[in-house]
Amino acid sequence: MADGSSFYITTPIFYVNDVPHIGHAYTEVAADVLARWHRQRGDDTWMLTGTDEHGQKILRTATANGVTPQEWADKLVSESWFPLLGTIDVANDDFIRTTDARHEEGVRTFIQKLYDEGHIYTGEYEGYYCVGCEEYKQPSDLVAGTGEYEGQQVCAIHSKPVELLNEKNYFFRMSAFADKLLALYEERPDFVQPESARNEVVSFVKQGLSDLSISRSTFDWGVKVPWDESHVVYVWFDALLNYITAVGYGADDEQLARRWPAHHIVGKDILRFHAVIWPAMLMAAGLDVPKGVFGHGWLLVGGEKMSKSKLTGIAPEEITSTFGSDAFRYYFMRAIAFGQDGSFSWEDLAARYQAELANGFGNLGSRVIAMITRYFDGAVPAAGSLTEADERVLDTARQVTDAAQAAIDRFAPHDALASVWELVDVLNGYITEQEPWALAKDPEQRERLGTVLHTAYRGLGTLAVLLTPVLPVATAKLWSALGGSGEITAQRIDRAADWEGAASVGALEPLFPRIESAA
Ligand code: MSP
Repeated sequence: MADGSSFYITTPIFYVNDVPHIGHAYTEVAADVLARWHRQRGDDTWMLTGTDEHGQKILRTATANGVTPQEWADKLVSESWFPLLGTIDVANDDFIRTTDARHEEGVRTFIQKLYDEGHIYTGEYEGYYCVGCEEYKQPSDLVAGTGEYEGQQVCAIHSKPVELLNEKNYFFRMSAFADKLLALYEERPDFVQPESARNEVVSFVKQGLSDLSISRSTFDWGVKVPWDESHVVYVWFDALLNYITAVGYGADDEQLARRWPAHHIVGKDILRFHAVIWPAMLMAAGLDVPKGVFGHGWLLVGGEKMSKSKLTGIAPEEITSTFGSDAFRYYFMRAIAFGQDGSFSWEDLAARYQAELANGFGNLGSRVIAMITRYFDGAVPAAGSLTEADERVLDTARQVTDAAQAAIDRFAPHDALASVWELVDVLNGYITEQEPWALAKDPEQRERLGTVLHTAYRGLGTLAVLLTPVLPVATAKLWSALGGSGEITAQRIDRAADWEGAASVGALEPLFPRIESAA
C-alpha cells in the first residue's frame, strides 16, 4: 500500500445485552493491531468500533432488568464497553453507537433512498427466528436440542429454541443482487478472506438469494421506518450501516470519500451479513462495496464457541489484571492463526508469557541496556568494522521488517509476530555467542565490545518499533530506555531496521515481571 493511502478498518459493533468476554476483545485487538500497524507506516488510518443497541435481544434484556432499552444500553456502554477499550489498550479513532443521532439519521436517509428507488416492497414472511442471532433461520441452520431443549429444534450457534414468526414487513429485493455478488467474488478473490470463508460465502450465494425482511412491527425499539412509523428497521440492516454513518454518510460527503470503503474484521458467525447482505445493500444504494471482509475464527471452550449465554465467557480483566494488556494482545495474536479457531488456555498463556515475552524479549532488552550502562556509562558505543555475525543481525532486522509487513498485508498478524520473533532469537543467540561480558574483561577488545553492543542495541530498536502495534506499553518503555526521540508510535514501521540509535540509554524496569502463580 502506498504511503498516505486511506486505510479504514472496522470491528463489528457489539450487542450490549451483556458485558464483553475475551472473544469480543479478540476481535478488537486484531483490528487494533492492524490499524496501529498501518498508522505507523504512514497510511491515512481510521479505526472504528462501537455498539449495536437496537432490536429484540436488547429490548428483552432491558425489560427483564426493569429498565428502558436506552437506559440499559447507556449503562452497559459506560460501565463495560467503553472501559474494555482501555483494558486491552485499543486506540480506536471513533466509537459509534446505533442510538447516536448521526447514525439514526443516516439509516433513515439510506432506507428512504432504497425505497424511493424501488428496492423495497411490502411482503409477508413466516419463518423461524433466533433472537440470539437476530436472524431468520433456514431448516438447515437448526440442530436437534439437548438437555432442557430435547425434542426441539435449536439454533446451531446459540443452542436455544427458535421462535416461529409471521409478519407483514418491508422487504429488500436482495435476490436481484445475486449475480453481481458472484461477479464480485470472482473478480476480487480476496474480497472475502480467508479462503475457507470465501468458499462458504460463494456456495451460499450460488444456491440463490431470497429477499430480506428489513422491518419489524411487533416492537418499537429501533429506528422508525421514515415512510411508515409503525415499523422499525431490522436490527442488522440498521447495524451494518454504522460503517458508513460513522464516516459521514448523508452528512459529510468529503469525509465519506476520504474513508470509505473499509476493511471489515468480523467473526465467522457473522460473515454472511457482511459478505452478502451488506455489499448488496451498498450496491443498491450505488455506493462502493467494502475493500474486504475478513472472517476470523472463534475462541473455543470445550470445543464450542465461548459465550456468555453458555456461561463460558472469560472477562478480559481476568487476564489483564495478572498478565497486563500487552500480554493479552500478544498471546491472542501469536497463539492463534488469524482466520482459524483457537482454544484459550491459562497454561499456554503463562508459558508464552514466561518464555517469549519475559525471557525472550524482556530479558534481551534489560541485558543490552544494562551492559551499555555498565561498560560505557550509558553512552551508546560506536560500531567498528562489522563481522559476518554483526551483518547477519542487521540483515535479519531488514528481512523481518519486510516479512512482517507482507504478513500484515495478508491479514496474518500471527505470521508477522513469528517473523519478528526470528529477530528476537537471532539477537539472543548473537549475545550468547559474542559474550560481551568476556570481551569487557579484555581492554584490547574494547572496540569489539562497542560493536557488539551497538549492533544489539540497533536490533533492539528495530524490535521496539516492529512490536509497537502489539505491545504498545512495553515498547514505549523500551523506546524511552533506548533514548529514542519522540513517541514510539510516530516511528515509521516500514523503516524499523533503519533506525540509527541515540547517544545514550536510560534505565529500564523489567518489561514483563515474573508472575509467581504462573511459574
Ligand atoms: N451486533 C452484531 C454485529 C453487528 S456488526 C454490524 C454481533 N455482535 S456480538 O456482540 O454478538 O459479536 C460481535 C463479535 O464478537 C463478532 O465478530 C463475533 O464473532 C465475536 N465473538 C463473539 N464470541 C466470540 C468468540 N468466542 N470468539 C471469537 N469471537 C467471538 O454479532
